[in-house]
Amino acid sequence: MNNALLTLRNRRILLGVTGGIAAYKAAELTRRLQDQGAEIRIIMTRSATEFITPLTLQALSRNPVHLDLLNPDTESAMGHIDLARWADLILIAPASANFMARLASGHGDDLLTTVCLAAECPVAVAPAMNQAMWAKPAVQSNQKLLVSRGVHLLGPDHGIQACGDTGAGRLLDIEKLTLATSALFDSGELTGQTVMITAGPTREAIDPVRYISNHSSGKQGYALAEAALDAGARVILISGPTQQTPPDRVDLVSVVSAQDMHENVQSRLAETDIFIGVAAVADYRPKLVQNQKIKKNTHGQRTLMLEFVENPDIIAEVAKRDPKPFTVGFAAETEHIEDYARKKLTEKKLDLIIANNVADTDIGFNSDLNETTILWENGKIDMPTMSKKALSQKIVTIISQHLKHTI
Ligand SMILES: Cc1cc2nc3c(=O)[nH]c(=O)nc-3n(C[C@H](O)[C@H](O)[C@H](O)COP(=O)(O)O)c2cc1C
Repeated sequence: MNNALLTLRNRRILLGVTGGIAAYKAAELTRRLQDQGAEIRIIMTRSATEFITPLTLQALSRNPVHLDLLNPDTESAMGHIDLARWADLILIAPASANFMARLASGHGDDLLTTVCLAAECPVAVAPAMNQAMWAKPAVQSNQKLLVSRGVHLLGPDHGIQACGDTGAGRLLDIEKLTLATSALFDSGELTGQTVMITAGPTREAIDPVRYISNHSSGKQGYALAEAALDAGARVILISGPTQQTPPDRVDLVSVVSAQDMHENVQSRLAETDIFIGVAAVADYRPKLVQNQKIKKNTHGQRTLMLEFVENPDIIAEVAKRDPKPFTVGFAAETEHIEDYARKKLTEKKLDLIIANNVADTDIGFNSDLNETTILWENGKIDMPTMSKKALSQKIVTIISQHLKHTI
C-alpha cells in the first residue's frame, strides 16, 4: 500500500454528493476510500439522487444514505448533529457550483449544508463543473471565500469535460482525490521529529502467576501515537500490556514491567526528539519475585506481607539527560490536580504536563474521554471534555507550537 494512504485507516469520512454529471464517480471514490481502511457515510443532495441512486451508494458504503434534514425517523436514528460529530472529515465530491454558493453563504437549507454548519471537523470540497461555470467570477469568489475560511479545496482538474469542452473544472481523478484526502490527515506539524511514547500499565511480578498492576487501558498513549504519526513524526511506542491495536506505521516495543520499560526507553533515547510519558508506571515493585507460586495458608498464615522497592522514575531520568528531548508528562490525580501537576512539572524538569482527573470514572482511565489542563512553565490551557483522539491532536499542536516558539 502507498505509505501516504495509510493515514486513511479507521478514518470516518462523511462523503457529501451533490448534483452534477460527476456524481457517478462518488461510487468509485467510496470504494477507493474504503479500500484504504476509511469508514464512509454518505449524504446526498436531492439533485444528486437524479444522477446516481441512493441504493448504489448505500450498497457500496454498507450504510444507509442520508437524504433529509426534516425527517423525524432519520433524525432520531443518526441526525444532523450526530453525523457532524461522527465525522473526522466531511468531503464533498463532487461539489456543484450551487452547493459551493450555499456553503459560502452559510445556508442550512438541506441536510448537507446543515451538517457542514454543525461540524467542527475539517471540510473539503472537490468541485466538478463545466469550465465556463468554474471560470465565472461568482464561482471563483465563492471558492476563494471558502478557502479563506479554512475549507480545503481539492482540484478541480483540467481536461476534456462531459459536455465536450476542454478546460478547468473536471473532478480530480479518483486516485489523486484519494491521495489528496489522505494528505489532509497529515498536518506536517512534527515532520522530521522522532517521538517516543510510553503507554499502558506496567505489571510487577509477585510470583510466576501473579502481578500487581493498574487500570490504565493504553487508549490515550495509542491515540497520541496515531496523532504524532499523522503529524508526520516517526513514532516509537513503548507499551505495557494493553488490548489496544497499534497504528500501522508505529515502531512498537512491547514491555511488561517498569524496569523493562525504563531500559527500553533509555536504549532508544539517543534517537528521540520528543518524549511523551503516558504510561501508568508502577511506582513500586515487590522486592523479591518468588520462583514458585506462593501457596495459600503456608504454615497456617492468614496474612501475606509483601515488601516493595521503588521503581526507576522513567520520565525524570529522561528529563535529566543533557541534551534532553522535549519532555511531556501526564499527571493522573484524584485531588488538587493542578497544584500536584505543576509541582511535578517543576520537580521533574518537564517541558509540558497534561493533568487529568482520574477520580471521575466517566473520564480518564479506561474511558474514551478525557478532561485535562495542559501546563507549562509560563502558561496553561484548560481543555474541555473531549475524546482522547481529539485531545491527542491538540497536544501534538501545542508541542509543535512550543518547538517553534509560537506559544
Ligand atoms: C444534466 C445536468 C448536469 C449538471 N452538471 C453539473 C455539474 O457538473 N456541476 C454543477 O455544478 N452543476 C451541474 N448541474 C446543475 C446542478 O445540478 C444544479 O445546480 C443543482 O441545483 C445542484 O444542486 P445541489 O447543489 O443541491 O446538488 C447539472 C445539471 C444538469 C441538468
